Amino acid sequence: MSLKILTYPNPLLAKKSEPITEITDEIRELVNEMVPMMYDADGIGLAAPQVGKLLRLVVIDISGPEKREDLLVLINPRLTPIPEEGMVVGEEGCLSVTGYRANVKRYAKVLLEAEDLEGNPIRREADGLLAVCLQHEVDHLDGKLFIDRISRLKRGMFEMKLKKGTRQSQVR
Ligand code: NI
Repeated sequence: MSLKILTYPNPLLAKKSEPITEITDEIRELVNEMVPMMYDADGIGLAAPQVGKLLRLVVIDISGPEKREDLLVLINPRLTPIPEEGMVVGEEGCLSVTGYRANVKRYAKVLLEAEDLEGNPIRREADGLLAVCLQHEVDHLDGKLFIDRISRLKRGMFEMKLKKGTRQSQVR
């Protein structure tokens, strides 16, 4: 397998991913490719659709590519917001949206349910950076990017910047 990280506006990034019904060798191989890709790209999360696989699978390591000590492989992750804990606004970027970051509003705390790579159930609450990262990655599985959660004005500015960038790279 030779995968690469797709970038906006690749149409696959807007598609909904399918649940994983069986953890096959193919899934394990995909995880083995995605984890180093995430670290190499300096990311803290990567969702399967970002590498062109429309499967409900994400890898996350909020300790970052230097430490690499908190790897989470999540099969079919489901999130339940805990709204009483309020909302947080933080700056986000995405390996599929290069050269742009923006503030996004997220739930401060969520309940995560998923399976690990051995098929064992995971059920835990998450807050802080992990909660934000989980919401960002699960959004990918639903065909949503963080730029779909910013104001229309900011989105318009982003699209203009993107067009200008494309034009410049065509000139070169
Ligand atoms: Ni992303």
